[in-house]
Amino acid sequence: MDTYPLGQFPVHRIGFGAMQLPGPGVMGPPRDHDEAVAVLRRAVELGVDHIDTAQFYGPDVANELIREALHPYPEGLVLASKVGALRDEQGGFVAAQRPGQLRAAVEANLRSLGVDRLEVVNLRRMDEHELAADQLIPLEDQLAEMVAMRAEGKIAGIGISTATYAQVQQAIEQAGIVCVQNAFSLVDRADADVLDLCHGANIAYVPYFPLGSAFPGMPKVTDNAAVRAVAERAGASRAQVGLAWLLARRDNVLLIPGTSRVAHLEENMRIADVALSEADMAELEGGA
Ligand SMILES: NC(=O)c1ccc[n+]([C@@H]2O[C@H](COP(=O)([O-])OP(=O)(O)OC[C@H]3O[C@@H](n4cnc5c(N)ncnc54)[C@H](OP(=O)(O)O)[C@@H]3O)[C@@H](O)[C@H]2O)c1
Repeated sequence: MDTYPLGQFPVHRIGFGAMQLPGPGVMGPPRDHDEAVAVLRRAVELGVDHIDTAQFYGPDVANELIREALHPYPEGLVLASKVGALRDEQGGFVAAQRPGQLRAAVEANLRSLGVDRLEVVNLRRMDEHELAADQLIPLEDQLAEMVAMRAEGKIAGIGISTATYAQVQQAIEQAGIVCVQNAFSLVDRADADVLDLCHGANIAYVPYFPLGSAFPGMPKVTDNAAVRAVAERAGASRAQVGLAWLLARRDNVLLIPGTSRVAHLEENMRIADVALSEADMAELEGGA
């Protein structure tokens, strides 16, 4: 499997996103605890060396499952977490953007994952939410805190998530970020310019919602007409075609599809074998 550097760590281009492991709405225990553990172990067996997580998945559930399934961690496994949000009692995502909150979240991730250092931490901006005045924090101040934690050895690489083109530029200049994690898929290409910016800057681009997410009401890659047609022709599943399109788009794309099922994980890990022809790519390009 091909690799691309996530900062100082070369990782396989197909990784795993842990957001589907907790219960519905990313809250509470998994639908099937044993299957969640099996998904993580099978992922590593199949070559996954990049797992994306967050303390606020569950909350605590995804990190605790990762620790239960994989600790002591195999050499070379890159754990990437994110900070900037908490959960309220109804399961809503609430901003936790102040520098002190970012630090507390890094500490919480270190504790629950059972590590001294996180290979990557994404600063998850929450600008799409209506933020209280005390949560309107200049990016510069947040990056300064992230850089301080990197200097202290708590973080190896800094990333930024759900960020605009200008914010990504600022983060590259001020903090030397190693990745950007933004929403991007065949059915949501609004972030294409940020992908190109990352490509030009030689940093990893990690698209979230690569299949359109598990959230109801969001367009799904597997419902797309061009994806259906190409999948039938290529003898691949629709999910595989959507993911293979992302891999083919740019070599700095690192995938983290999320699944709670071993069968889907195994399917997603086989996409390196899905060969998309020029005609397939053209049809998919036109089929947003
Ligand atoms: N930075 C951020 O703000 C942010 C936001 C969202 C997500 N993320 C990260 O990005 C990762 C990926 O995003 P996501 O998990 O939200 O959405 P996603 O990967 O686009 O889609 C997940 C959905 O696709 C289904 N699925 C997965 N593989 C499939 C297959 N082979 N066939 C059919 N259905 C399949 C899953 O269901 P099953 O469980 O039934 O397989 C789940 O409903 C997350 O896990 C998380 O680590 C980051």
